[in-house]
Parts: sequence; structure tokens; C-alpha cells
Amino acid sequence: MILKRFVYKKIDSTNSLAAKIIKNYDHNSGIVITDYQKKGRGRYGKKWISYKGNIFVSVFFKFDNNYNIKKMTKINCKVIKKLLSVYINKTITIKNPNDLLVNKKKVSGILQEIIQKGKNKYMIVGIGINLVKSPKLANYPTTNLKEITKKKVSKKKIISKLIKMYEKLIPKLTSYSLSKII
Ligand code: BTN
Repeated sequence: MILKRFVYKKIDSTNSLAAKIIKNYDHNSGIVITDYQKKGRGRYGKKWISYKGNIFVSVFFKFDNNYNIKKMTKINCKVIKKLLSVYINKTITIKNPNDLLVNKKKVSGILQEIIQKGKNKYMIVGIGINLVKSPKLANYPTTNLKEITKKKVSKKKIISKLIKMYEKLIPKLTSYSLSKII
């Protein structure tokens, strides 16, 4: 399957825009990508500080009622862990429910949301990856890919890898037991 790309320079939040696209258009799936978010959102209503150069994307797709949300959280974390492990050769830990840590510092966060449109449900998977700069968080330390790898990592390449991974994953969600996917 091909994820339709929605690419922007500056928007409020990729998750909020994905919700608007779902509500106002007939796309069953897609990915919203932006360079900068004015109102990036984290979990529990917190802000997600969006430094330019970092990654802000939201993948969305039709969500079957049979999908188990907890399993989906795990799968999304595993996808991002797999993606980051291409670049990082240190242990990447998943901190429940959906933070990714390297050396106990947060490198990526995921905001998973479900929205309803008529009879259908959609899942929005908002992914923030600290690529070049670490936002200060109240609860624990943060890091970024550049700091970890001591190399400049291409944002374009990471995003296109991420797209490929979800394009492979989404069609499998309906036909297999979720636990067998990754
Ligand atoms: C968290 O750790 O609290 C989750 C952070 C999720 C941030 C991403 S950045 C892209 C997407 N759009 C948002 O507004 N939030 C998520």
C-alpha cells in the first residue's frame, strides 16, 4: 500500500492535522509530515517542544475494532525502535507505554490517538524523534540522534524508511494476529 503524503513547513500539530484530514476528506490512510509544529502535543495534554531539524510525523489509518490498542502501542514502539536501530548501535529501551530511550534518555515519543468518523475508527500515530536537538522535559532527561551517533543523520532518509515500514505494516494489521507481526 502507498501512504498519501501531506507535507508542510509549519503547522500546529501533525496529529491535529491528521484528525482534520480524516474528518474532512475520504483518505483511509496517510502520513502528515512537517518541519515545525507550533502546538506540538505530548501525552497527558503536555506540550511537545518542536525544534526545527527534529522529526514530527503522524501516520493515520483505518482502525478495525478488533485491533487491540495496547498491542498497537507495542507495535508502534517496535517499529520506531527498529527504525532507530539502523542508526544507533546502543541498546534502545522501550519505556512503557511508548517512549524510546537510549542511555536512559528519551530520544523519541509517540502519541497514539483514535478518532471516530461515522461508523469508522481511525488510528493516528504521532511520532516525534529528536534528531538534532533535545527538548528539555520536566520528567526525565532527553537526547538526540546526532548526539548519540556523533554523525549527521539524513532526516529525509529516516522519514522515507519510516514510510516504507508503515506501508508494509498497515496491510498486515487486518490479516494476521497482531502479536505475530513484529
Ligand atoms: C510523548 O512522549 O508525550 C509523545 C510525544 C509525541 C510527539 C509527536 S511529534 C508529531 C506528533 N504531533 C504531535 O502534536 N505530537 C506527536
